[in-house]
Amino acid sequence: MVDLISKELNELMNKQIVEELQSAYIYLGMAAWAIEKGLKGLANFMKTHAEKEEYKHAMKFTHYIQETGGKVKFDTVESVATEYENVEELLVAAIKHEEYITNKIKELMDLATTKNEYYAFDLLNWFIQEQIEEENLFTDLYNSFLLSGKMLGVWDQHIKHPE
Ligand SMILES: [Fe+2]
Ligand SMILES: [Fe+2]
Repeated sequence: MVDLISKELNELMNKQIVEELQSAYIYLGMAAWAIEKGLKGLANFMKTHAEKEEYKHAMKFTHYIQETGGKVKFDTVESVATEYENVEELLVAAIKHEEYITNKIKELMDLATTKNEYYAFDLLNWFIQEQIEEENLFTDLYNSFLLSGKMLGVWDQHIKHPE
């Protein structure tokens, strides 16, 4: 059995699996709110993001732990908001959440660096780059909303998640 992961990095990656699934859950909560408001474009965007991005992120960490001989632990995902004041509040929350996740990835990178776990660098570098995309994705969505003059119907019809 390979043994290429430290206990500490294993633990932090297990926590990150939860963060990624929590992210999926948060975006599904946003999609649920958007559906209630008739904002189908926004709902699809958030649902696609949860399924195609966040779930995939959780699986990448899961796979890495298993490949390096670690032990996967699936901890508890918390309940999330399905209520928002308005679209602006929701979009700002999404940007803030991605900033939070970027910091979590940096913590993983810090730990892997301290422990000289070079094997983890490829994966974590991929996530560092991914976070640039994720932060830009939600920032662009927010900016497009502002540029539309907050014309909800028109804006909603033109939203598309890059797949
Ligand atoms: Fe993610
Ligand atoms: Fe994300």
